[in-house]
Amino acid sequence: MAEPLTLPPVPEPPKGERLKNKVVLLTGAAQGIGEAIVATFASQQAKLIISDIQGEKVENVAAHWRDQGFDVQAIKADVSAQQDLHAMAKLAVEHHGRIDVLVNCAGVNVFRDPLEMTEEDWRRCFAIDLDGAWFGCKAVLPQMIEQGIGSIINIASTHSSHIIPGCFPYPVAKHGLLGLTRALGIEYAAKGIRVNAIAPGYIETQLNVDYWNGFADPQAERQRAFDLHPPRRIGQPMEVAMTAVFLASDEAPFINASCITIDGGRSVMYHD
Ligand SMILES: NC(=O)c1ccc[n+]([C@@H]2O[C@H](COP(=O)([O-])OP(=O)(O)OC[C@H]3O[C@@H](n4cnc5c(N)ncnc54)[C@H](O)[C@@H]3O)[C@@H](O)[C@H]2O)c1
Repeated sequence: MAEPLTLPPVPEPPKGERLKNKVVLLTGAAQGIGEAIVATFASQQAKLIISDIQGEKVENVAAHWRDQGFDVQAIKADVSAQQDLHAMAKLAVEHHGRIDVLVNCAGVNVFRDPLEMTEEDWRRCFAIDLDGAWFGCKAVLPQMIEQGIGSIINIASTHSSHIIPGCFPYPVAKHGLLGLTRALGIEYAAKGIRVNAIAPGYIETQLNVDYWNGFADPQAERQRAFDLHPPRRIGQPMEVAMTAVFLASDEAPFINASCITIDGGRSVMYHD
């Protein structure tokens, strides 16, 4: 039996002041891409309120950064429960008096055969991957409108514009998330609010490591994933997080209702 793979350590994010004093709300922060966003945003001096349905784990992430002198608070929140996201927004306003950025990162893969899928699977996928982001937007928009400025970033997917067989109904919800991004971006543009999406492709997170470890030769399966991509590798969570830093910063004031794809160019190809 081949050795199981482990996740490579997250590299030190670059330090700077690109988000100095910005109050940032982030969902799905306990691991993976969300955890990398905490690292990069804290390292750029953001004040973070982070949440996840895994309450203890997200508190550990916050404590790690607080111990290093950064301003990071955690709260347990289920994005499918509107009241949890309102509580998160309330905490931000009570502590910091404003909300500059919301990153909707919480998400789940629900991959089922369409006709075998239960009603519960369908509802769970939409409740987390689409309703969750909408509830996040609803919780922060009144404050952002009052301020006359704000940036919302939705972590979508290449599944937001492309279909991979066997992944139903995840792409249906992620297509909806891109629609939500565009619709709200237009709706609130004149009020100073930007709503954008990031569409990661294949990213090296625990979920994918677990998937490769399900094969007899995990290393060969990882290599197969790498070979599907023009740069002959897949993406790293930090690469998604650095794009979120850009969209959250003052460097992207005219980028609205857009989606930035991070997949090494794979989705542009028609055939390998
Ligand atoms: N990893 C990839 O290859 C990839 C590719 C494209 C898009 N994405 C998207 O990026 C985002 C993050 O994915 P990841 O790979 O880091 O996954 P992950 O599973 O490592 O992290 C997702 C986080 O969301 C949290 N979460 C799940 N349900 C929740 C709920 N109801 N309320 C609050 N939090 C909840 C989980 O506890 C977890 O901490 C997701 O929206 C995912 O769809 C990931």
